[in-house]
Amino acid sequence: MTFSRIAGTGSYLPGNIVTNDQLADIVDTSDEWISTRTGIKERRVATVETTVEIASKAANNALLNSNIKAGEIDLIIVATITPDNFMPSTACSVQAKIGAANAFAFDISAACTGFIYALGIANAFLKSGLYKNALVVGAETLSKIVDWNDRNTCVLFGDGAGAAVLTASDKPGIREIELKSDGSREDLLNCPALPSKNAFSSGESLQSVIKMNGKEVFKFAGKIIVQSIEKLLKNTNTDLGLIDCIICHQANIRIIQYAAEKLSLPIEKFFINIDRFGNTSAASIPIALDEAVKTGAIKRGDKIIAFGFGGGLTWGAALIDW
Ligand code: ACO
Repeated sequence: MTFSRIAGTGSYLPGNIVTNDQLADIVDTSDEWISTRTGIKERRVATVETTVEIASKAANNALLNSNIKAGEIDLIIVATITPDNFMPSTACSVQAKIGAANAFAFDISAACTGFIYALGIANAFLKSGLYKNALVVGAETLSKIVDWNDRNTCVLFGDGAGAAVLTASDKPGIREIELKSDGSREDLLNCPALPSKNAFSSGESLQSVIKMNGKEVFKFAGKIIVQSIEKLLKNTNTDLGLIDCIICHQANIRIIQYAAEKLSLPIEKFFINIDRFGNTSAASIPIALDEAVKTGAIKRGDKIIAFGFGGGLTWGAALIDW
């Protein structure tokens, strides 16, 4: 039987750092409020880089770290809610930039769960036995859909990209991926696209900015992390005590603290970098994965859980032998 494992990870963050104090010059907020309510101290905001550019840099870093060449990649999936174009897809542009001439490429949209969804799709392709290597990227320039006048949301988000190269393997690296969505709760978190406006109709022009009911998303996130991790462990017959590291979507440090408390786990089991990057949506998990590998928080042979939740609503959990 064929499985897939992660052969290497990579990330790329735009150089421009925006501190909480800088945001306090734009909206009525403070470093104290943002730090204590969210755990965020600073984030990256792209000034010149596009989603394709940061996605391609993260992809090249992942290829380098996996010792797999661009020409050996069979499929590329980019998870993003902030593409540069409706077409071509971000994934096709990344394919051209990195020179992955033998791949087919497409984007998926699942907000902050995007990377876990993409991992699940790539894992299924590789398990079919028909493909050998896949590149999975999460990349966002959320700064272009943030309402910079709304202090409720603009302090939360950041830009960045992370990537992983998956390769077919006779032993499972990715053990289980569970994906779920609830489309009836779109009111909690959304960002309108273009209105249906044409020569024969006049659609209402909605602003393409993120709208969020923070309190309700917070409650949902805390509950779903705990439920999903417990379900994943039960379905795979895995003891929580065997898990070395949990990589959660970085949305709010208080959500992670809540999950740690409910699961009776020390907070040190959770990898945290929200203080430096904020919420980078689909890029948050692969950026954290890459940092965890580089800093030794994840080592070969470790058992890890990656968990994402976000707009849709969507959520997903992965159990991975590193
Ligand atoms: N600075 C100062 N005050 C603020 C700010 C700010 N940036 N933002 C809100 N406030 C005020 C509010 O107006 C409110 O004032 P009021 O009491 O006078 O009305 C007060 O602070 C408290 O606001 P709350 O909304 O109750 O603050 P809360 O503690 O719930 O934190 C937050 C808000 C950080 C948004 C939190 O609810 C949260 O993190 N929610 C989850 C968000 C999330 O996880 N999103 C993930 C998905 S993202 C994706 O998929 C793209």
